[in-house]
Amino acid sequence: MSVAKNIIRADVRALSAYHVPDASGFVKLDAMENPYTLPPELQRQLGERLGAVALNRYPVPSYAGLKAAIREHMGVPGGFDVVLGNGSDELISIVSVACAKPGAKVLAPVPGFVMYAMSAQFAGLEFVGVPLNVDLSLDRDAMLAAVREHRPAITYLAYPNNPTGNLFDLETMLAIIREVGDTGIVVVDEAYQPFAGTSFMPRLPDHPNVIVMRTVSKLGLAGIRLGYMSASAELLAEFDKVRPPYNVNVLTETTAAFVLEHAAVLDAQAVSLCDERARLAAALAEMPGVTVFPSAANFILLRVVQPGLTGSIVFERLLQRKVLVKNVGKMHALLENCLRVTVSTAAENALFLDALKPSLNI
Ligand SMILES: Cc1ncc(COP(=O)(O)O)c(C=O)c1O
Repeated sequence: MSVAKNIIRADVRALSAYHVPDASGFVKLDAMENPYTLPPELQRQLGERLGAVALNRYPVPSYAGLKAAIREHMGVPGGFDVVLGNGSDELISIVSVACAKPGAKVLAPVPGFVMYAMSAQFAGLEFVGVPLNVDLSLDRDAMLAAVREHRPAITYLAYPNNPTGNLFDLETMLAIIREVGDTGIVVVDEAYQPFAGTSFMPRLPDHPNVIVMRTVSKLGLAGIRLGYMSASAELLAEFDKVRPPYNVNVLTETTAAFVLEHAAVLDAQAVSLCDERARLAAALAEMPGVTVFPSAANFILLRVVQPGLTGSIVFERLLQRKVLVKNVGKMHALLENCLRVTVSTAAENALFLDALKPSLNI
């Protein structure tokens, strides 16, 4: 037996590593990145700021300055604090580890963000996925029944949801939060909030069992890896114990604080992406052989519905034309023949549409 076989958990050995395709030379529309960079003058100022950072020192683990800037700019309710993560991926992991009592369970609608199930597995929690309705809305009765049956420690509701792009019905979410009560927490994951026009954040003070989780990744800062979550002081204090003390590095800390001083730039980029989303969705809706799902995020889910064609064939044809989208058709039966495409600049969206037409035999 090899040492890996001797010591690594069987379920870990059975996994395949999270696959990130090489996108060099492609129009990259697979990862919901913001296509815009900072304006050159801000890049220059940021460079100066970063040049002066004390790289020889550990970060100050309270992150007081950055947290204050996040509270101020991101609509965190008065009296509420945040815990920071190395991306919201790390926050999901922190929450999973903190709640991993023997026998504890995690519940989420499926299809949903894959890290909920993966983090649960890594922390030794059982994951229960509840299928969405065919129209990709929450199955209210099934969700409430699953909460009653499994009494999950953690329930995830992505608002808007990935990979479907839709906003779940708020009343249904509130019913789930009520049903969970004080036997679990509900993580409202707002990764795509900048494009949603709505947020659960203002409601946070009414729900002691809710965590609102966000990331700056989709806002244009995916490279710095920064997520934050807000909840009651009691919950945050517990999660903070599990957080590695220096999990946000000084370059990320400084960059995020700098960019928040210029938050209007990111806000304007989000507005422009929402305009592009409307244009892209309208162009897709005109195409024969495609069904477009409504999106409140910076990506659009579409289904190939042309006889003789599958989502996978169209995905491969797009690849041949140097356009990379995400083939989500195998993720879940509800997503059969579906592709997910990031909303990008007008120019990149046009390249995508130009590549899509011949891929659909139009
Ligand atoms: C719903 C949802 N939550 C969280 C994340 C992770 O974001 P981060 O880049 O902050 O780790 C993603 C990334 O795609 C996501 O779709």
